[in-house]
Amino acid sequence: MRRPIIAGNWKMYKTVAESVAFVQELLPKIETYFAIDKVVCPNFMAIPTVSEVLKDSPLKVGAQTLHWKQEGAFTSQTSGEMLKGYIDFVIIGHSENRAYLAETDETVNKKLHAALQYGFTPIVAIGETKDELEAHLTTEVLHKQLQGALANLDAHAASTIILAYEPIWAIGTGLNAKPEDANRVIGEVIRPTIATLFGEETAQAMRIQYGGSVNPSNMLAYMQQPEIDGALVGGASLKVDDFTQLIKQTAEAKGL
Ligand code: 13P
Repeated sequence: MRRPIIAGNWKMYKTVAESVAFVQELLPKIETYFAIDKVVCPNFMAIPTVSEVLKDSPLKVGAQTLHWKQEGAFTSQTSGEMLKGYIDFVIIGHSENRAYLAETDETVNKKLHAALQYGFTPIVAIGETKDELEAHLTTEVLHKQLQGALANLDAHAASTIILAYEPIWAIGTGLNAKPEDANRVIGEVIRPTIATLFGEETAQAMRIQYGGSVNPSNMLAYMQQPEIDGALVGGASLKVDDFTQLIKQTAEAKGL
């Protein structure tokens, strides 16, 4: 079975002090779920301190993006070189960055290669808008995003990355995709696309999360779906009890 991964994308929430207090409270509640990867992705400001607090612990730290260059005149950006030693994971291609920060499939691809070069595990977010969903373009959109994001990758590297299927219409809206629908998109669109690009073995090995209005009342239903290997969580990852519940329910649903 693919190892489940639950990652909290904190977006632009929590000060450094709040981030530290959060992980100190969370860690003892979730550290015994050994069979699940557990990740928090704080704001850049909090990453060094949170990383120090979580050193050698089973709760891992991720960044919410990175720049592909090592350094340069790129105001506001943060490179892999700067993140090295602090993180194990990095979210790339989040729809909010595609919408507000000019992220494209091409920049996602550059960031993906930079992340791998630094030994970070990329969590690549893909998903369709509401208009695309209603126009029945989901398959086409996901194909294009995957082809662009994963260009020039070899099958071995591809099998180590994580995908997050996040329908944009489901993010922060409370309008979560039906678990069976998310399972179908992952099983019938995303994995077959990966199989075409990298072979069936890689498609079966790759971990694919669902993201979009996941919370303790719908988590069990998502995690019971065989194609869904975890979740990328926004709002519900900001509360210790909710995030703990998500991890517990993953263990229950996957029989771990
Ligand atoms: P919500 O869980 O708040 O809908 O956010 C999902 C998300 O964007 C995770 O990256």
